[in-house]
Amino acid sequence: TGRELVDRFGRVHRDLRISLTDRCNLRCTYCMPAEGVPWIPRPELLTTDEIIRLASVFASLGIVEVRLTGGEPLLRPDLAEVVHRLSAIEGADGPLRVSITTNGIGLDTRARELADAGLERFNISLDTLRADRFATLTRRDRLDDVLRGIAAAQATGLTPLKINTVAMHGVNDDELTDLVRFAREHGAQLRFIEQMPLDAGHTWSRAQMVTGDDILAALSAEFALSACDDRGSNPAQLYTVDGGPTTVGVIASVTAPFCGSCDRVRLTADGQLRNCLFARGESDLRALLRSGAPDERIESAIRESVTAKLAGHGIDDPGFLQPDRPMSAIGG
Ligand code: GTP
Ligand code: 5AD
Ligand code: SF4
Repeated sequence: TGRELVDRFGRVHRDLRISLTDRCNLRCTYCMPAEGVPWIPRPELLTTDEIIRLASVFASLGIVEVRLTGGEPLLRPDLAEVVHRLSAIEGADGPLRVSITTNGIGLDTRARELADAGLERFNISLDTLRADRFATLTRRDRLDDVLRGIAAAQATGLTPLKINTVAMHGVNDDELTDLVRFAREHGAQLRFIEQMPLDAGHTWSRAQMVTGDDILAALSAEFALSACDDRGSNPAQLYTVDGGPTTVGVIASVTAPFCGSCDRVRLTADGQLRNCLFARGESDLRALLRSGAPDERIESAIRESVTAKLAGHGIDDPGFLQPDRPMSAIGG
């Protein structure tokens, strides 16, 4: 249309990820330190009206899909209202499609309400099926809450239900096939994720990472996998399991980055626009909003940010630096 958000590499941006809070009720070791991080002060968080205003501007620029993230987005008290109002915004091909990435805790009582509010689908994080491992990894003994949340998400009938698993040596690398079977029983699509250098402790090391190839090797020992094509801007390469219909995905962000087809921009809970998970800079949309800027001014700030987007995440570059902002305040 000419209004689309196209960057210097021809990538058209259609997907906006909105972090609704940086807080979380878990403390996954690959994301947050045990004591948490200094939370964003409340007055700095975008209000729901501010989120809706920005989403409307993004929709006028070709964004058609919004993913709600955190921290843990279920901790935002008015989440259902956010979903309802976002899914009423007209985008280029109909109302915005709204989905959520959650740890699942509390979904048992809220999945239905979110579906009724207009949510399109759920992605739920689950790294292990063993309660003791879950408690060690997340520092909270809440596997049962997550499993109840997955069941509730499944009961809404919204598809595809996706389960995200960060694969880690010595943590869950011996239960990858169990996780696939679990997902298959729940009609869910499991996606294994390579750990990225985004942990608060800056302890990530390439040598310790379970790679996409490692994952495929482990799965191939028990299942017949067949690669699906038409990947588009999907971060996951999908495979049918034993001829389908179950599919399993591998998100190899580090060893096989999908940056070339990236169609995402990110809005943090405190109103900063990031053109990449690994962006070094941010654009302060909250300041513009609160200074009374008209839509045109916000639009040009968004365009500037997209124009400045780099070709890739640069993890392999000699001078690579992890973003200052922790994962929990970016939204994954
Ligand atoms: P779908 O719309 O269902 O494909 O969701 P998604 O995979 O984009 O989002 P989700 O929040 O479930 O993220 C799954 C994994 O992909 C997480 O580890 C994210 O950090 C990672 N991810 C999502 N978007 C990006 C991105 O733009 N770049 C990189 N490198 N990783 C991303
Ligand atoms: N690398 C890859 N994925 C991560 N996630 C959290 N931290 C990391 C990391 N360092 C995942 C979560 C969740 C999604 C939002 O991002 O497990 O599924
Ligand atoms: Fe919370 Fe998600 Fe971070 Fe785990 S990865 S601490 S669930 S925000």
